[in-house]
This record gives sequence, structure tokens and C-alpha cells, in this order.
Amino acid sequence: MPPRNATTDRFNIFQRIWYSIFPGTHQKPDDRQRYRRLFNSLALHFRPRAIPERTLQFSLTWGLGGMAVVLVAVLFASGLMMKLVYQPVPDRAYASIIYLQNTVVFGQLIRNLHHWSGNALLLIVFLHLLRVFFSGAFHAPRQFNWIIGLLMFLLVLGSNFSGYLLPWDQLAYWAITICTGMLEYIPVIGDGLQKVVRGGLDIGPATLSNFYAIHTAVIPACLLFLMPFHFWRVRKAGGLVIPRTPQEDPGDRGESVAAIPNLIMREVVVALVVVAVLMIGSIAFNAPLEAKANPGLSPNPTKAPWYFAGIQELLLHFHPLVAVLAIPLIVLTALLFLPYLRYEADTAGVWFCSYRGRQMSLVAAVVALIATPLGIIADEYIVDFAAWLPSIPPVFSNGIIPAALALACITGFYWLMKKKYTATSNEALQSVFILLLVAFIILTITCIWFRGSGMALMWPWEVSNPVP
Ligand code: HEM
Ligand code: HEM
Repeated sequence: MPPRNATTDRFNIFQRIWYSIFPGTHQKPDDRQRYRRLFNSLALHFRPRAIPERTLQFSLTWGLGGMAVVLVAVLFASGLMMKLVYQPVPDRAYASIIYLQNTVVFGQLIRNLHHWSGNALLLIVFLHLLRVFFSGAFHAPRQFNWIIGLLMFLLVLGSNFSGYLLPWDQLAYWAITICTGMLEYIPVIGDGLQKVVRGGLDIGPATLSNFYAIHTAVIPACLLFLMPFHFWRVRKAGGLVIPRTPQEDPGDRGESVAAIPNLIMREVVVALVVVAVLMIGSIAFNAPLEAKANPGLSPNPTKAPWYFAGIQELLLHFHPLVAVLAIPLIVLTALLFLPYLRYEADTAGVWFCSYRGRQMSLVAAVVALIATPLGIIADEYIVDFAAWLPSIPPVFSNGIIPAALALACITGFYWLMKKKYTATSNEALQSVFILLLVAFIILTITCIWFRGSGMALMWPWEVSNPVP
């Protein structure tokens, strides 16, 4: 007879299951305490026991990081459910979406939840990036977490883009055609890169299967790795940045309070509000679905997804080499190096660097609000470097010359702000960031609402009711 196990024999079946999951918790109190300490010390790599009271202010994080976590969870849950029905081949993809919507119980709701969460996530993560930037939370010791965040931003962008093709309707087919078409403007590697992304010369079965694998396996795996890393780095940096006024000492952490219930309760409230808003939105508004993809019939105008609309608008003003390659590459490189630049003052935790920084930010936003529409209109109706300088190649007349002019204006703005406000380089840099941010938002809005047939500039009501 095998020896009896003195420790487990005295427990019933449920207790034995419980103790197999949490071994040691049945032991004498001091042993139990030891195990609990071990378990807590693991969990505490993500969750602190006590946190500075000031970091609980809603106006520090706006709950944006927490909202992003909830949205990712909803996307994983709804995405996995759709995977049971969706078929990633051109002949059947569209039909499987129709089947999901019309026949599967709650199929339409699940698709709507996935669609709206995906789009909301991109917006929320972008706002989270802005809050981290404007509250100075990217300075040491949080520099590398900014880089991890940027990688996650690119993954969320890639996830939305790869998901866009999956319904295989007209909207999906032509938007992805436009966007992957932009790749061929990249010198030397452009054509090859386009072939790799499309899995061939045109959008077809190979593209759909590539996008499906990237969307449902590669990107989710990367996110599952990076997200815990991101949270662990927040913890390792000693928690969130402490919000303070410019006069307050950066070393002053103030009072601490217990994370449970103070932090947990706030997180639960944010999660419940996000889920409630998503549910209401998904019940009220269906995810768009047009006719099945028809490679022979392109809609007019064919627009990129909203998050690439700004770049599509840039393409109307600059040579593709500048619009598709130079500008996005410069912006991405600048964002990557941003936390590693040398700054004159420690502004971590001070919104907009200082009081003067706030004033300068407002001025920058107003300048961009006036200058960008004027620039768009001037370029549409008056300025035409290609016609004025017919003897030089378009890459110069339409690309390098206007880009150099824009760069000169931006550099001039930087020096003007620095001089007029006797500002630090942090403050002047921040005002350039706002200038470009507002300009990009206006370009995006123009492409979405003010571009109609043939991408001509027109009023939104003319876009939605085109003259036959
Ligand atoms: C899927 C995307 C993301 C998720 C789920 C996420 C989640 C979070 C959470 C929960 C926090 C702590 C609470 C908060 O600040 O709201 C946080 C903090 C932080 N995040 Fe993210 N984040 C994401 C993307 C980004 C991006 C795009 C950036 C910037 C490029 C970024 C940079 C940071 C930094 C630097 C902190 C520390 C802030 C501080 O100490 O105050 N994150 N993130
Ligand atoms: C960050 C995470 C994710 C984002 C941002 C995202 C975004 C999207 C978007 C925007 C669509 C197009 C929906 C539409 O307009 O019809 C889509 C479709 C889809 N996604 Fe995701 N998704 C994510 C994660 C996942 C995961 C983890 C899975 C499964 C493992 C998944 C499975 C699917 C499937 C099967 C479709 C096709 C169904 C449809 O188009 O309605 N997704 N996704």
C-alpha cells in the first residue's frame, strides 16, 4: 500500500484542489505568512502596496493607461470569439462576416465591440502618449518606458491596419490598396517591401492570409510580451510621475496611501465606465460593411483609414518621397530620441513644463489653427512649384523645395518663441511639438471631411452629396 499523505488526507476534494493551486496555504500561520509574502512579492512587481496620494489625481493620468488595458482585453476576448467563425480566404471571408452578423447569436454585437474597441484603442493610446509627454513623464527614469510605449503604439496601429482588410469588403480592399501602394515610393526597397506586405504584386489571397496571421498571432503575441514589461517598468521607476507645480520640489513625494482600496477602486470604476460606453456604442452603431470587394471597381474617392488620412493629405501637397518616407521617418526618429535629449530643467510632473510653457502652447496651437488651413488652400489654388519650375525634376520642385520651406518656417517659429518668451529649450521644443500636432490633426480632418470626388477640396455636405 502506498504511504498515506498526512498533509492532504485530512482535506476534502475542493480543499485539495485549492491547495494544489496555492500550495502551502494550509500550513501553520507563520509558514502561510511566508508563502503569502512570496506570492505578494511577485504580484508587487506590478502592484505597489502603497502609492503617493498625489498620483491618484484623475487629472494626472485621466485613466487613459487603464482604459487602454481594458480595451486590449475586450479586443482579445471578442477577437478570439470571431476567430471561431471567420475564414481568411477571399472567397469566404466576406460571407463569414455576413454569417457572423446574421446567424451567430450576438455575432453582430461581438463584431461591433471589436470594431469600436480597436478604433477607440488607437485614439486612447495616442491621448495617453500626449498625457505622458505633456506631464513630462518621459524623462529619466522613465525614458525606456516611453520607447516600449512607442513600440506598443506602432503595434496598435499595425493591428488596426491589418484588421481593416479582414472583412474583405470594398472599403477594406481599396483602403489597403491605397496604403500598400504608398510603399512603392520608397527608393530602392519600396517595390520589394510592397511585394512582401502584399504577398505578391496585387492584393489577393496571400495578402489576406499574411494580414490574418499578423493580426491574430504576431501582433497579439508582441503585445502580450510588451504590456507586462511596460507595467513592470512603471513599478521600477517608483510608480507614476508625481504631479507638481513649477515651484514644488521634484523630490517631494507627499503622503502615501494604501493601493487597496484607493487605487483599485478607481481602476474598477474606469473599467466599468469603458465597458458601459463600449456596450452602448456597439448596440447603437454597427461596424461598417460595404459590398464584397471588387478589384475591378474602385470607389471615387478612395480614402485611407482615418489614422492614415493625415499622410494621404500630405501626399496631395508634397512629392510622395517626402510625404510617405521623409516626414514619417523624421517624426518617428524624433519621438524615439525625445527622452534622451539634454534638457535645461527637470520638468517631470509639471504640466506643459511651466506657466510660460502653457502660454506658449496656446500660441502654438492658434498659429497652427490659422496657418495650416491657409497653407492647404494656398497650395490647392495658388502655389504650383511644378508648373513654375518645369525644368527641375518633380522630386525637387514638389518635394525638397516645399519641404525645405516648411522646415525653415518651423525652425523660425522655434527661435521666435525662444526669443520672445526668453524660453528654455524644453518650452520651445514643446511649442514646436504642439504646432506639428495641431497641423497634423487639421490635415487629417481635411482629408476625412473636406475631400470629395478626385480628392478635390470641397465642403463636407458636397462630399456626402456629390454632384452626379
Ligand atoms: C497598448 C498601449 C499602452 C498601454 C496598455 C499602456 C498602459 C499604461 C498604464 C496602465 C500606465 C500607468 C497608468 C497611466 O499612466 O495611465 C502607463 C504608464 C506609462 N506609459 Fe503607457 N500604455 C500604452 C502605450 C504607451 C505609449 C504609446 C507611450 C508613449 C510613447 C507610453 C508611455 C508610458 C509612460 C512613460 C508611462 C509612465 C507614466 C508615469 O510615470 O507617469 N505608454 N501605461
Ligand atoms: C490590439 C488588438 C486588436 C486591434 C486593435 C484589432 C482591430 C481590428 C479591426 C479594426 C478589425 C476590423 C473590424 C471591422 O471593421 O470589421 C479587426 C478584425 C478582426 N480581428 Fe482584430 N484587433 C485586435 C486583436 C485581435 C485579436 C487578438 C484577434 C484574435 C485572436 C482578432 C481577430 C480579428 C478577426 C477574426 C477579425 C475579422 C472580423 C471583422 O473584420 O469583423 N483581433 N480587428
